[in-house]
Amino acid sequence: MKKTLLIIVSIFLLAQLIQTEKINKPTPKELEIKAPEHIMTMLKKACYDCHSNKVRWPWYSNIAPFSWMIDSHVNDGRSALNFSEWENYTEKEKKKELKEIFRTAYISMPLKDYIIFHEEADLTREERTQIRDWTGVKK
Ligand code: HEC
Repeated sequence: MKKTLLIIVSIFLLAQLIQTEKINKPTPKELEIKAPEHIMTMLKKACYDCHSNKVRWPWYSNIAPFSWMIDSHVNDGRSALNFSEWENYTEKEKKKELKEIFRTAYISMPLKDYIIFHEEADLTREERTQIRDWTGVKK
């Protein structure tokens, strides 16, 4: 029993050696997505921690294995869609992303395991409808 505990503690301590890079690349303001204030408030509250260069790293982002989980969410999130670099997208890409936002707003975004730690990011149905309407995608 004591030995098992020792092994678990050792693994936990060794895991801390594998650190993640927590980078918020400085990005010109002009590249930021532009949306009405109430939409921006929702995006910042519920999406920016994975889809922007303005991620607010929580204290547990320093602790493995949470740090690894957050790192992969942010990397995958940013490469799928980055609101801080929106103006780098072509018109075609923007249209595709707006369609994707429309599609995911009711179902998968923000990620469920994010909401567990960030209750405030759980948008109401009405807020999700506002985001869908803003995308301009026809139902
Ligand atoms: C905890 C991290 C996290 C949060 C918060 C989050 N997302 Fe995501 N999002 C991801 C990840 C990771 C992916 C890519 C993998 C996937 O599709 O599951 C993704 C994919 C997407 C995509 C698909 C993009 C594409 O072209 O494939 C859209 C659209 C999207 N998110 C919109 C949103 C919106 C809108 C919000 C806020 C309401 C949001 N996300 C909040 C992590 C997040």
